[in-house]
Amino acid sequence: MMKRGIIWLIAVGLAASALAAGKKSIMLPPDNAMATLKDGPGVKVARANCVACHSTDYIVRQPPSSLEQWTAEVNKMRKVFGAPVNDADAKVIAAYLESAYGEPGKVAPAKRPSK
Ligand code: HEC
Repeated sequence: MMKRGIIWLIAVGLAASALAAGKKSIMLPPDNAMATLKDGPGVKVARANCVACHSTDYIVRQPPSSLEQWTAEVNKMRKVFGAPVNDADAKVIAAYLESAYGEPGKVAPAKRPSK
């Protein structure tokens, strides 16, 4: 008799915790600025091509750079590290990087709606 009672209690307990678990929701903190690429035209192409090998902080942490510097960086990823990025995407990505992480004070086309 005692044994049955305990098993029943365990069963009820499990059911209750399963119900409670079903109601739980998890709130994640928002991404920090290092963990995401700023919005802007071309950001999707950059996300698709530039986070396979390393996280976005490699990009976000760079000093603000010109289009030429970003183009060189993208080409380095392709030539030195073998990033499979085609010419058209490389241009879009470099332009995006300049607009999102370009030299301060430079008028960048960052206000255009993102694709
Ligand atoms: C095939 C893998 C790969 C892909 C894809 C890739 N990278 Fe990299 N990236 C690397 C490696 C490897 C390093 C150097 C890591 C280290 O030094 O610890 C690096 C480093 C960097 C750095 C830090 C500065 C430097 O030159 O070391 C930046 C900025 C960067 N990548 C940007 C990009 C961008 C922008 C793209 C998208 C076009 C991209 N990466 C795609 C492999 C890749």
